[in-house]
Amino acid sequence: MKIGNLEIKGLAALAPMAGVTDGAFRNICEGFGAAYGISEMISARAMDFDDRKTAELADLSRDEGLVFLQIFGEDPACMARAAEKLLRYAPAGIDINMGCPMPKITGGGAGSALMKDPRRCGQVAAAVRKAVEGAGIPVTVKIRAGWDRDHRNAVEVAKRCEEAGAAAVCVHGRTREQLYQGRADWGVIRAVKEAVGIPVIGNGDVDGALSAGKMLAETGCDMVMVGRGALGNPWIFREINGHLRDESLIMPGPTLTERLLVMRRHIGLLCECKGEPRAMREARKHVGWYLKGMRGAAEFRRRAGELCTLADLDRLVEDVYRAAAST
Ligand SMILES: Cc1cc2nc3c(=O)[nH]c(=O)nc-3n(C[C@H](O)[C@H](O)[C@H](O)COP(=O)(O)O)c2cc1C
Repeated sequence: MKIGNLEIKGLAALAPMAGVTDGAFRNICEGFGAAYGISEMISARAMDFDDRKTAELADLSRDEGLVFLQIFGEDPACMARAAEKLLRYAPAGIDINMGCPMPKITGGGAGSALMKDPRRCGQVAAAVRKAVEGAGIPVTVKIRAGWDRDHRNAVEVAKRCEEAGAAAVCVHGRTREQLYQGRADWGVIRAVKEAVGIPVIGNGDVDGALSAGKMLAETGCDMVMVGRGALGNPWIFREINGHLRDESLIMPGPTLTERLLVMRRHIGLLCECKGEPRAMREARKHVGWYLKGMRGAAEFRRRAGELCTLADLDRLVEDVYRAAAST
């Protein structure tokens, strides 16, 4: 499949998740077959002001395959300037956030609030597209079903963005009103797929190989995008790819050894990227997710919440092994 002139291998991409999908996690997911990744959302306004901390989110100096940088904002001119500045990081493409439900984002008219004004969605997409045209990279948009149950206008927004030159649209089948609750409505993904000619990426509640196959079959979408299903579970991409190649193939989950080794590699990378003190604070949630469901998980997850050094993590890993061996 192609997004613009970009050849995409695989049918499952890693969704953008603020505080989660940094370079370390994207690297790990790419290793398990994520077709591409999207950065955490980046404030166009802060990029425009050359904010140093914001620019760190755009760092793509590590080996992580195809990565789109995602921007949020509401002003087409500011979004265009930000996108142009992001070119210096050589992203595979630029993704525009039209789905974030957080009041601090929507309050200023960005994220999912953009969907209240489909014309503006088109203007933002057109401005960003024009800004990166010379670099020849695609611009994609990530939308929701709509603002609330009375304003489910994903089809209209997707069409506007397509007209404006977006190369693909990702649809999260929830409204802004739903936040992350309830089931995602895959019907809206299907409706968008039937309405536009650009690739449609389905998103919402893909938590394994079976649901990925089901979403592709039920909606006709070109690819799926996985968010929460990848937390502490980067193997999900291997499982999805295996199953889609051969429907009878349900890959076994990782062994305990693989789970712990990958977790250790992920957190080691995080330390290389961000320095140990900050990385270990951020590692706590990841370690909690990796250990979910294991024997003695409650106590181990409590300890995960107190990690300060890589040596703490190594002790925790040894104790997890010991607990598993004693059964
Ligand atoms: C912790 C977290 C952070 C998120 N941050 C972003 C973000 O920065 N940009 C974005 O477009 N969506 C963001 N999302 C939404 C996800 O990309 C995705 O659309 C949503 O989680 C539904 O997919 P899922 O059911 O596979 O998790 C975030 C979701 C979570 C759970």
